[in-house]
Amino acid sequence: MKVHELKHKALEKWIQDASNLMKPDDVYVCDGSKGEYDRLAQQMVDEGLAVQLNQKKRANCLLFRSDPSDVARVENRTFIASKTQEAAGPTNNWIDPVELKQTMTDLYRGCMRGRTMYVIPFSMGPVGSSIAKIGVEITDSPYVVINMHIMTRVGSKVLDVLGTEGEFVPCWHSVGKPLTKGESDNGKWPCAPLEKKYISHFPETHEIWSYGSGYGGNALLGKKCLALRIASVMARDEGWLAEHMLILKITNPEGKAKYIAGAFPSACGKTNLAMLIPTIPGWKVETVGDDIAWLKFGSDGKLYAINPEAGFFGVAPGTSEESNYNAMKTIEKNTIFTNVALTEDFNVWWEGIGYEPRGKLIDWLGNEWVYDKNNKDQKPAAHPNSRFTTPANQCPSIAKEWEDPDGVPISAILFGGRRAQTIPLVVESKNWLHGVFLGSIVGSEVTAAALDLTIGQVRRDPFAMLPFCGYHMGDYFKHWINIEKKTTSEKLPKIFFVNWFRKTDDGKWLWPGYGENSRVLKWIFERCDGSSKAVDTPVGYMPAPDAIEKPVSVSNKDMEILLKVDREGWLREVDDVRNNHYPKFGNHLPQELYELLDTMESLLKA
Ligand code: GTP
Ligand code: SPV
Ligand code: MN
Repeated sequence: MKVHELKHKALEKWIQDASNLMKPDDVYVCDGSKGEYDRLAQQMVDEGLAVQLNQKKRANCLLFRSDPSDVARVENRTFIASKTQEAAGPTNNWIDPVELKQTMTDLYRGCMRGRTMYVIPFSMGPVGSSIAKIGVEITDSPYVVINMHIMTRVGSKVLDVLGTEGEFVPCWHSVGKPLTKGESDNGKWPCAPLEKKYISHFPETHEIWSYGSGYGGNALLGKKCLALRIASVMARDEGWLAEHMLILKITNPEGKAKYIAGAFPSACGKTNLAMLIPTIPGWKVETVGDDIAWLKFGSDGKLYAINPEAGFFGVAPGTSEESNYNAMKTIEKNTIFTNVALTEDFNVWWEGIGYEPRGKLIDWLGNEWVYDKNNKDQKPAAHPNSRFTTPANQCPSIAKEWEDPDGVPISAILFGGRRAQTIPLVVESKNWLHGVFLGSIVGSEVTAAALDLTIGQVRRDPFAMLPFCGYHMGDYFKHWINIEKKTTSEKLPKIFFVNWFRKTDDGKWLWPGYGENSRVLKWIFERCDGSSKAVDTPVGYMPAPDAIEKPVSVSNKDMEILLKVDREGWLREVDDVRNNHYPKFGNHLPQELYELLDTMESLLKA
């Protein structure tokens, strides 16, 4: 479709203005068809930007290798440009919006020379449903186009819903690498250097401007930028929640089902939990979403969740038939792999895939790589944040209601992180407010999902939303507290704190995780029904002895450690929250949370 054929005049004007600024050779409005996907895929293969994988083993699959400087989100180049710095709060990078738009307009000037500008109309949430939000991304990256095809609902059907004056979030994107006449990418992933990358959000005007990166959340603007940073602002204003959460359905042996949502920081186990195969007989888990949930009140006063996405952008390393069978099945076809290793027979390989690689591989940097069993320090063949982009409807565990525009009623919300020490396997909050308190103090070891942080260092990541909240985090805590006032307490989900990542002093996992996490989900399920037993502790309700059946691989002693209140450790947590975490939020921090911190401290000292 041509731009002048668009029925939506404001959209047409925006595209015209953007193309006058960015000077692409060509403007193309995406229709979302398979033909379009295949054409762009072929074009990138022909240009040497993508490798077509083995059709017999990975039908219709591609491998991309990005630039080594462009392998993950960049938190220190991500900006919340609200009118005032106070509105963005202490945890976001802020630049004055007028200044930032000036800077970026200069970067955007002529930035698409030698390239096509693709216009991607997309819907977050089922097309046409009342809860869906529409965005339009302009980009010079065909890689972004095909990823958006999988991750969102794209194309003409979205334009139909938009009509002549429907609302949309304008999403500007350029890789920031204009081409001179006759120049080509030469098979090299285009992007701009780190200091020129900007992932910018204008929360008051609901706009997204991204420049310089082609990777993941920096470039697929429906995901973290729209569905979390901008949507969190909309949710605050409209009384709902936009969260970094998986959504799963769990059914007990009697056939009774419940829905659970869980917020864990990046690369801390959402995709795996959402696709889990229980190790306890008779139980079943199905997948509704693996990364983002929008929670809204139904007319019955309960919170209902929808997954606004249409695909999974999942971490590859650690994914195996053993750890995540459903993901492995999902990615057998129609999948884009980025920064994994390539095998001699044009298949993929990564660390933790479950078997040793044979022969010569090409690693994520494009170099030959041969597995050296004896070299513990060998560089990984796949980048730790290498990922697959794959359609949700291909997942064997996808729940039949995953696209229900009314969402699914949530019985429990989990908060958690990656903590080698102190944080027990599971704690249940005393009530909603106490659950919000626990969410506000989540700490987690930093993973490879962000480029510019120190991996392994524990940082506070409240609600797993530290990099994704589009406004002042203190006000966000308040928003969560206020949710309780919109309904009656018994209708709200119960809130739990979990940790799959405890380690022994010599660095071994104390808990086997993955499918065995179903034992914890069972206890949570039964707590929601009032049938499983708990004991009252200074940090919340914890499983009574034997309330969680121990996996065979875990010793009695380890199980005890996993379910014990480590008083000294928790007191260190309290100290850190009191001295380093809460003070950041100044008078935006709800007083109730300080009171709960005091209560926890005195109970721990009693
Ligand atoms: P994002 O997509 O970045 O938001 O990550 P995520 O929260 O979906 O994390 P994911 O499920 O992709 O897991 C990230 C890494 O943690 C992978 O390497 C997994 O194999 C590993 N992992 C997931 N669940 C568990 C678990 O229960 N125990 C252990 N030890 N590792 C896990
Ligand atoms: C995350 O970092 O939480 C992700 C990957 O899910 S990205 O889409 O890059 O944000
Ligand atoms: Mn995520």
